[in-house]
Amino acid sequence: MADISNKLFASDPVVLPKGGPLYLQLKRWIEEAIERGAVKPGDALPSERDLALKVDVSRVTVRKAVQHLVRAGVLVQRHGSGTFVAPHSQRVEQSLSQLTSFTEDMARRGMSVRAIWLDRGLYPPSPEETVALGLSGGDLVARIARLRLSGDIPLAIERASLSSRLLPDPEAIESSLYAHLERSNHRPVRAIQRIRAASLGAADAGLLGVAEGAASLNIERISYLESGRVVEFTRSIYRGDTYDFVAELRIGAASETRAK
Ligand code: GLP
Repeated sequence: MADISNKLFASDPVVLPKGGPLYLQLKRWIEEAIERGAVKPGDALPSERDLALKVDVSRVTVRKAVQHLVRAGVLVQRHGSGTFVAPHSQRVEQSLSQLTSFTEDMARRGMSVRAIWLDRGLYPPSPEETVALGLSGGDLVARIARLRLSGDIPLAIERASLSSRLLPDPEAIESSLYAHLERSNHRPVRAIQRIRAASLGAADAGLLGVAEGAASLNIERISYLESGRVVEFTRSIYRGDTYDFVAELRIGAASETRAK
């Protein structure tokens, strides 16, 4: 198994991306190395000690960054043998039980992401947004609409609405909405997702580069802060031929009791 030290530390000293706590900077730096292809699926990450020394951060910071990436499925830990970049698959698998962002889903596959902005700004909310986001009279809604691509391949259209109190400046988002929210401590911790099959209308099919009427998976996500406050009301339209949703199923409590 290849050790990636040489490729990872090609630029010496290491310069972490700016913004947010140190462990998030390190997390982004590792994600970027994977996106650039500097490190590949299956490569072993240097030890916690080596990373801390080279990047000049504490081992606690390294551990926290690695834990986040393992949780997001970008890295995998094998007991006794270390931490590795997660394997690559052509279809994108999105876990149905982990609250991950589009950027994290793609990084886990070693795929680079980019967005074409279709819209972003502050608007008076629609009645549906007022209800979904629990807005009060006079509140504005921040809307962001993006075509999301991996390289040149369009994968999804995402239209998100958030209270302007949580997202006062939609223009400030660089690429990931969740990374932006994380910096202001507003990253959601829980979400309810509704998924349904649909076929694409002419406009969305055009954006996704497929024929009108092609299959899509339409997902509505309402996500929440720890406090129970709603963060986002997002409608995503994923191309049906590129996405797999994976759920881990466990036997229910009632059946377990019966089986005893
Ligand atoms: C997923 C979800 C969206 C969420 C988005 C954030 O795709 N379906 O509800 O807004 O991730 O992704 P990112 O942080 O990459 O902008």
